[in-house]
Amino acid sequence: MKYVIINGSPRKKNTWAVVKQIKKSLDGEFEEIQLMKENIPICNGCFKCFDGEENCPHFDKVNPLVEKLKDADGLIITSPVYAMNVTSLLKNYIDHTAYLYHRPALFTLKGLVVVTTAGAGHKDVAKYMDETLRHWGVNKVYKLSFACGGKDSLDTKAIDKVAKRFGQDVESGKLHSPKIMDVLFYNVWRRFALNEDHIERDRQYWRETGLINHDFAPEVKLGIFKTIIAKASLFFFKRLF
Ligand SMILES: Cc1cc2nc3c(=O)[nH]c(=O)nc-3n(C[C@H](O)[C@H](O)[C@H](O)COP(=O)(O)O)c2cc1C
Repeated sequence: MKYVIINGSPRKKNTWAVVKQIKKSLDGEFEEIQLMKENIPICNGCFKCFDGEENCPHFDKVNPLVEKLKDADGLIITSPVYAMNVTSLLKNYIDHTAYLYHRPALFTLKGLVVVTTAGAGHKDVAKYMDETLRHWGVNKVYKLSFACGGKDSLDTKAIDKVAKRFGQDVESGKLHSPKIMDVLFYNVWRRFALNEDHIERDRQYWRETGLINHDFAPEVKLGIFKTIIAKASLFFFKRLF
């Protein structure tokens, strides 16, 4: 199994200690991306990625880091809490992937989010990172968040338990039914892609991948209840937008 690790901490300390522990519980190859060393310039808000990610002025730096995700079985993505949020390093990377919200792609990838903090904010930050991955299309997200210095600091048992569940899931290759919110977001973007005056690149992506014809990514089984939700939401969004 191939795991990509994106470290959103500028240093290899508390958060990295959790990653090191996770690696002990997983079998596979690991590729580390230290965002601190990638020197990705700040997203300048040009909007060009929405018209095609290759138009981003930082495409040469960002695209290899997205391509690695397409090639991986599992993603481990980390951040310490900074001012009750992710680090600017990680947020800048996420901002550069905003086009993936419009054109989700990583439907077979599974993720593990790792967050450490001195005392607060870790649950909310882990939730934000979970949601981000799911906007990219990631099939299932596991979470590990710790307050360092407290009694749960480097709880190796808890780390091992979650890492093993994540690893077994990655190895199984089984794809999980998405959350209802993911079905709704998918169908919002699908709806936009049907609109003739919507961003041409999004329209092209949804048509060329065939996603436009599906209630959700076809490799992921929805089940009857979520299929009804998908169809009903598309009908509703067609009337709304
Ligand atoms: C700039 C900065 C902002 C921080 N903000 C918070 C915060 O809002 N809440 C908190 O509990 N800890 C905060 N911390 C503490 C870190 O989240 C915590 O020490 C974390 O484990 C550091 O991870 P690292 O060793 O991987 O860098 C902050 C630390 C720094 C350097």
